[in-house]
Amino acid sequence: MLTDSFGRVHSYLRISLTERCNLRCLYCMPDEGVELTPALHLLSSEEILRLARLFVSAGVDKIRLTGGEPTLRKDLVRLVASLSALPGLASIGITTNGLTLGRQLAALRSAGLTHLNISLDTLRPDRFVTLTRRQGHARVLASIQEAIAQGYDPVKVNVVVMRGVNDDEIADFVEMTRHAPINVRFIEYMPFDGNVWSDKKMVTYREMRGAVEAEFGPLEPILSPAGEVARNFRCQGFTGSVSFITSMTKAFCSDCNRLRLMADGNLKVCLFGANEVSLRDAMREGASEEDLAAVISAAVYRKKAAHAGMFELAATANRAMVKIGG
Ligand code: GTP
Ligand code: 5AD
Ligand code: SF4
Repeated sequence: MLTDSFGRVHSYLRISLTERCNLRCLYCMPDEGVELTPALHLLSSEEILRLARLFVSAGVDKIRLTGGEPTLRKDLVRLVASLSALPGLASIGITTNGLTLGRQLAALRSAGLTHLNISLDTLRPDRFVTLTRRQGHARVLASIQEAIAQGYDPVKVNVVVMRGVNDDEIADFVEMTRHAPINVRFIEYMPFDGNVWSDKKMVTYREMRGAVEAEFGPLEPILSPAGEVARNFRCQGFTGSVSFITSMTKAFCSDCNRLRLMADGNLKVCLFGANEVSLRDAMREGASEEDLAAVISAAVYRKKAAHAGMFELAATANRAMVKIGG
């Protein structure tokens, strides 16, 4: 088991499949994009599978594929099929911007993809262009409908709420959950390199929940599975659900069960901070499974108790979000 010095057991691995993205979301990366790691320094699918196997044998039972935009990886469907066949893995999900997802969904479903989270921060086509600096709003909406048709229940829709940008759309997003198996998740805006975060732009859990309850009445709590970052609720009588991800105002570090494998092969034990170790280099220098397991265990053991708080984080070097994958 991958246990740290505070007794936290790590059973959830997020794997970033690419640093590239077909959108340029304001909260994720600067307008000019970010410098990409040369292809030879990125993990091959064989290397990803080798590491995934190792993590699963060490107790990971949930994998989520992220990016950049994971659907841009050419062999995504094959990778999902190989990962979902790993004995001991209970769940294999993906977090995607939904832009080119629609046409791959049936194949991904057949390959064994169990969970689907789609990022969408506005229901207004013109605003989508401002927020993502690209076109494609209708295609994302179509992907959400296709995901529901494929039977994903719930389809999670991630909304990063930013003051003066999309905070007037909270009720419209909640409305999506009235008749559909959608879990809308309102996320507090977090600071990463190049995303020009400020606390003034962040809308707190308290405010977001207040906005929902002012419109729809008291929210009914739904019990969250252990290790989930979201607080889950339902509006009375609605099919879907509403959640809040409170990373900044109510951190959930004490229950953290997550590890992250970056596209360049670095293991990141916390979303925040620059504390990373290269599993790619270890593999390419000829490490055995035992050697790799030892490198991973040592990194997990060094994991900090909690992140430093939002102002400290905003001033601390990290990667741009597009190179972490959330
Ligand atoms: P589920 O498997 O459905 O629970 O997905 P998830 O919430 O773990 O992943 P998703 O990729 O949908 O991320 C939703 C939001 O949670 C994003 O804003 C992530 O950056 C944030 N998030 C994910 N993991 C962590 C974490 O360990 N710490 C913090 N602070 N935020 C996280
Ligand atoms: N703060 C909060 N969430 C973010 N995401 C990307 N950047 C940020 C940020 N600065 C979310 C995306 C996606 C998930 C992987 O992380 O919306 O759903
Ligand atoms: Fe791309 Fe996701 Fe970053 Fe938006 S948040 S630019 S969709 S990686």
